[in-house]
Amino acid sequence: MSNKSCDILFTGGEVIDGTGADRVHADVAVTGDRISAIGDLSEMQAGRKVDASGRVVAPGFIDVHTHDDNLLFRDPDMTPKTSQGVTTVVVGNCGVSLAPLVLGGETPPPPMDLLGNSGDYRFERFGDYLDALDQTPPAANAAFLIGHSTLRLGAMSDVDRPANAGEIDAMAKVVEEAMQSGATGFSTGLIYAPNKAAPTDEIVALAEVAGGKGGIYVTHMRNEGVDIDKSLDETFEIGRRASLPVVVSHHKCAGKENHGRSAETLARFDKALKGQKVGLDVYPYTAGSTVIMVDMVDAAERVIITWSETRPEFSGRDLADIAAELGCSARDAAAQLIPGGAIYFLMDEADVQRILSYPHAMVGSDGLPHDSHPHPRLWGTFPRVLGHYARELGLMSLEEAVRRMTGLSAEQFGLKDRGVVRQGAFADITLFDPETVIDSATFEKPMTPAAGINLVMVNGKIIREQGRVTGARPGRALRRNAA
Ligand code: ZN
Ligand code: CU
Repeated sequence: MSNKSCDILFTGGEVIDGTGADRVHADVAVTGDRISAIGDLSEMQAGRKVDASGRVVAPGFIDVHTHDDNLLFRDPDMTPKTSQGVTTVVVGNCGVSLAPLVLGGETPPPPMDLLGNSGDYRFERFGDYLDALDQTPPAANAAFLIGHSTLRLGAMSDVDRPANAGEIDAMAKVVEEAMQSGATGFSTGLIYAPNKAAPTDEIVALAEVAGGKGGIYVTHMRNEGVDIDKSLDETFEIGRRASLPVVVSHHKCAGKENHGRSAETLARFDKALKGQKVGLDVYPYTAGSTVIMVDMVDAAERVIITWSETRPEFSGRDLADIAAELGCSARDAAAQLIPGGAIYFLMDEADVQRILSYPHAMVGSDGLPHDSHPHPRLWGTFPRVLGHYARELGLMSLEEAVRRMTGLSAEQFGLKDRGVVRQGAFADITLFDPETVIDSATFEKPMTPAAGINLVMVNGKIIREQGRVTGARPGRALRRNAA
C-alpha cells in the first residue's frame, strides 16, 4: 500500500487509541480493512475524507457481554449495538450459546429462550453456526463462547443432576470441536436451571479443554449476593485448576443486605490477580435483567416486566401494579407471567461506581435484544459510561473509559489487532463527540439510540453515519487467534 494515498482519511480529530494513553491530535488513514497511517497526513490523497475536527477517533467499542448470538441473523445491522459505536460483540455468555444445539419442535427452557425460539436452535456443530454467519455477514464482528447450559441440554437427558463420566466426555468433545472451529472460550450461568446442578469438578473438566486450546472461562457465578465470596472462590479455583484466564460476568453485589460489599469483592480480585489471570465486566446501571425468576422478585426493590408469553400486554409495566391489578402477591403475579423476562432493581449506585472505577473492569452491556421492553443497557451502555460516568461524574478520564471498552477487552478476549487505533490494526473505528456523547435509552423508553456517535466503521467499511445505517455488512465471525 502506498503511503501517499488511502481509501478513507479521518482528518483533524483527537485520537484516543484504546491503550489508556493521552489523546493526540492526528489524522488517521484507512486502506482496505486496516489502519494504514496515523499522524499529520495533510499531504495524503484519499478516496474520501471525513472531517473529524472536534471529535474523538477511537477504536470501535467491544461489547464483551452480549446475548446477540441470534441478533446477528435477526438484525444484521445490529442496530442496538452499532448505534452505540460497538463494532464487535462477544456472544455465548452466561452459559447460553445458540450453538451447538438442535431443539426441533421443543420450546427452549429458560434461559435459552432469551436467544430465540426452538427453530433458532438449529446448528448441530459449532462450526456450522460460524459458517452460517460467514454466509450472511452482519454489520459488526462477533467472537464466540460456548455455553455450558447449551452443552448440557445437548448431552444430558436430565439436567437436574451432575453429569456422569460419559456425559462429561461427550461435552468435552463438543468443547474441543468448538475451540477448533475458533471459539474464544467456555461460559457458565450457574444460577440457571440447566447449569445449576453442575458441580465444580464438571466445570473444571470442560474448562480444561477450553484452556488447553488457549481459551478463557467466563462465568455468571452461582451467587452474586449473600454467597458472593464462595462464588468468587469457586471461580478463581476453576481458573487455577484448569489453568486458564477467568472473567467474572456483570460483577455486582445484589440485594440490599449486600450493598457496599464491592470493596471486599474487588479486594479479592486484587489478591487473585497476584497469582492468576482474572478479569470482570460490568454494566453501568443499578438494575439487572434476565428471565422471570420468582425468587429474585423478593430480593428486588422494583421489578419491571420486559416480556411475557402468557400476558404480553404487561411488558414494560411494574410488577407491583400488575399484582395489584390481579389481586395477588408479586410472587404469584410473576409466576403467572412465565415464560417471560424482567428488570430487577438490586444494586447500589456506590457499588456500580466502585466496580466501574476498578482498572480491570471491562464494559459489557448484557443487553437482551429480543425482549419487547428491554433493559435500557441494550441501547445505552457505552455512551452512558463515556458521557455520564466519565464526563459528567468524572469517575475516570475519557481515555481510561475508552480503554475499558476497547484495548483491555481485546486483550482479555484475545481479539487480535483489534481494540486499538494503531498502524496495521483492523480499521474498527468509532467517531464520537466528547461533549455530547450520552445514552438516551431509559427504563420508560428503552429503545432510544444514543446521542453523539457520529460514525462507525468496521473492517474499513462505514456501517453507520449521522445516525443512519449505510447497509454495509462487513462484520466477521472472529475465530480465536485468527485475523
Ligand atoms: Zn448473566
Ligand atoms: Cu448475560
